[in-house]
Amino acid sequence: MSLNISKNAVIYQIYPRSYRDTNGDGLGDIRGIIDSLDHIADLGITHIWLSPVYKSPDDDNGYDIADYKAIQPAFGTMDDFDELVAEAKKRGIGIVMDLVINHTSDEHEWFKRALAGEEKYRNYYIIKKGKNGKLPNNWGNFFAECPWAKFGDSEEEYYLHLFSKKQPDLNWNNPDVLAEVKDIMRFWLDRGVVGFRCDVINIIYKSSLENGKSQLVLTGREHFLSQEGCHRILAELRRDVLEPYGAFAVGETVFVDTAKGRDLCDAARGELDMIFYFEHMECDQVFVKWFKTQLRPKKVMKTLTKWQTALEWNACYFENHDQPRFISRFRDLGDNRAEASKMMAGLLMTLRGTPFVFEGQEIGMVNGDFRDLSEVEDIESHNIYKMAKGLGIPKRIRWKMIQRTSRDNARTPMQWSADEGAGFTTGTPWLKINGNYKTVNVAAEAAREDGVLAFWKRMIALRKSDATLAEGSFSSLYQGAHVYAFARELDGRRLISVCNMSGKAVKLPKSLQGCERLLISSRNGAGDRLMPFEFRLYECETVK
Ligand code: NOJ
Repeated sequence: MSLNISKNAVIYQIYPRSYRDTNGDGLGDIRGIIDSLDHIADLGITHIWLSPVYKSPDDDNGYDIADYKAIQPAFGTMDDFDELVAEAKKRGIGIVMDLVINHTSDEHEWFKRALAGEEKYRNYYIIKKGKNGKLPNNWGNFFAECPWAKFGDSEEEYYLHLFSKKQPDLNWNNPDVLAEVKDIMRFWLDRGVVGFRCDVINIIYKSSLENGKSQLVLTGREHFLSQEGCHRILAELRRDVLEPYGAFAVGETVFVDTAKGRDLCDAARGELDMIFYFEHMECDQVFVKWFKTQLRPKKVMKTLTKWQTALEWNACYFENHDQPRFISRFRDLGDNRAEASKMMAGLLMTLRGTPFVFEGQEIGMVNGDFRDLSEVEDIESHNIYKMAKGLGIPKRIRWKMIQRTSRDNARTPMQWSADEGAGFTTGTPWLKINGNYKTVNVAAEAAREDGVLAFWKRMIALRKSDATLAEGSFSSLYQGAHVYAFARELDGRRLISVCNMSGKAVKLPKSLQGCERLLISSRNGAGDRLMPFEFRLYECETVK
């Protein structure tokens, strides 16, 4: 089985509530995305991954779905959605839906009917009696909650939720659940979507509900991470649903190592086209993501190299709606926001795999400038803050943790212009707009010939048109404290990507000093000295 997406594809992720609001309610909407299609097409994007737009009570901003076949009213209507698919198609852009099937909302009809006592729907969820007044097992939860909640009025029954209490996990041992999901996928494929981003897909199948061995995070995970049952389900979804439509699937996969990752997207097994792993997101953390330390560029280089070499094809990304902005992680960023963003464009577009650009990345948006917890909305951040308080962590440190790690850092509204509301809304934005919007915005960037946006466009265009970048092999050439260099090679042509991942000017590594044919420098550089956060691309046969 081959990839169900062109190797030239460049995907843009939209977090709809933060993208563009057309009715002044402070929340982005589908019409706002339609109105932005020219920006997206102009950027050179081939696919849009839409974070959930389904009907949802928004406990986890749409990742808690109450109806898989309805559009969230605040985002618009099904007609708006169909128009989006059609208008995107006119511009050569395919729409990719977020498929959230580990759990539903507790406001989904299935859960309500389960609560009402319908046996069929009780079997859709994981409901279990406690043991002698205790919880059914000792598992952990992704949002630092107890993973078991009382099922309705029952004194002894609990349902499992690996995320919030309002996100009950589905029972993937039940073939009816599989049949429902196939039906949901076909519903969207029939409306013209071309693929799915599959939310936490490697945890859907629980092979046992036994106690787990005690872990710092997520005790019990040996019972639900990448189980055989999960592989079976993915292969079936691929064979029965995706293949007949030629649709592709990228899986969000947690706690995967390269061996597990390879299994999940090995073409011969026919499950996923590619996966999002997290290891490179963890290069500035101690044990868990809420404890941050300095970003170690060398660790990023090592991790990227490891995955680039281990997998036949990668999903390449540095930002999404769950991660702080990548350029904000550089401790020595200083005044180099724009330069660092350009360097990341160069890096992302020259790695082997499908590049995913997160909204705002193309103008170098940075972390939110939140002053205290009252400005943060994210459920995960609030839970972690509470947990840290329980552990006796002082208030100042608690806030520092949230400030640096909150998912809201990436969710601040898209900055379109210097107008009040950043061109995102005429109303009150659902989340505080970054105060830098007067200078960091799409309109300002459109006027800068050598600006951040222009550089992203240039790199995306190159990524799409250059066969060596699209298809060539990968080999690492240099990993230093600051500089990363790697080669992409196809049919004897060799491109060399060089990234200075630091705010210091540094020497070009000796082995690269013979490279003469400089195709691109993000800083109009040349010679043996790399400027802070400079990206270069060489064509060079000699360096091995
Ligand atoms: C991963 C999603 O990206 C995240 O935003 C969400 O909270 C969890 N899965 C639960 O669906």
